[in-house]
Amino acid sequence: MRILVGCEESQVVTKELRKLGHDAYSCDILDCSGGKPEWHIKGDILPILKKDWDMLIAFPPCTYLAVSGAAWFYHPDDFDLDIKDRRPHPKHPNRKKFRKDALKFVTDLMNAPIERIAIENPIGSISTYIRKPDQIIQPWQFGDKAQKSTCLWLKNLPKLKPTNIVEKGEFFEWIDSRSGKKKRQPLWFYQALQKAKTPEERRTLRSKTFPGIAEAMAKQWTKGKFLKQLNLFEEEKKCTFNFNDCDNLKHDFCNDCDEGDNYEKF
Ligand SMILES: C[S@@+](CC[C@H](N)C(=O)[O-])C[C@H]1O[C@@H](n2cnc3c(N)ncnc32)[C@H](O)[C@@H]1O
Repeated sequence: MRILVGCEESQVVTKELRKLGHDAYSCDILDCSGGKPEWHIKGDILPILKKDWDMLIAFPPCTYLAVSGAAWFYHPDDFDLDIKDRRPHPKHPNRKKFRKDALKFVTDLMNAPIERIAIENPIGSISTYIRKPDQIIQPWQFGDKAQKSTCLWLKNLPKLKPTNIVEKGEFFEWIDSRSGKKKRQPLWFYQALQKAKTPEERRTLRSKTFPGIAEAMAKQWTKGKFLKQLNLFEEEKKCTFNFNDCDNLKHDFCNDCDEGDNYEKF
């Protein structure tokens, strides 16, 4: 199959697909770090979506979409106010616009003219403004001892079946000096923060796909059985989101989110 792995600089999924003999390419605005530049398309993914792919697996940026970033939308002094009365965060006045742009990017990926599509993102605004995910998975269900709630939005692809359930991994706990409250983060996430030297490096390290999930995506989404079940004549449903509604962020899944306590509780 000809498969585009969008927004992937690590090439983790691309390499798993190649192992199975697929004609897979990663695409990212960054250089690839996976060591296979011949399988990497460096640049914006949007113009190449029409190039006759059988499948798209995409990992769009979550900087302005993840629920863990919601604390940066509003002025820190306004947290007790109703959402409609809060001022923008003084250091991030354009955050809402960036979220709209990020949601538009995701809808463009979801509406790509490709028969099978999987979009991956953490818990956040996609569920609120576009639609709820078809599945939420964890690395520990696929052999990696780590907790990271990972949502999947699927078109003509089956839900992933856990391959190897292991322990959830350790957490790092500390007392926040500002609020005096106890906080905790998965250890792998905390270590990525410590290891990184720049904010960009921090983002890249924390967003790499876990190997067990990558292997499951490659194997389970290219198996022959379900591919025959496609109804190619079914009418396409386009995804949309309500731009005007972007002030009223509320979320169903926050109590599942252990990726840093830096998010607003709704
Ligand atoms: C959340 S990270 C996903 C990383 C991925 N899980 C991996 O293992 O490489 C999002 C990625 O999207 C890339 N990106 C952002 N805008 C893009 C665009 N318009 N076209 C292609 N890639 C883009 C970023 O450079 C970043 O590497």
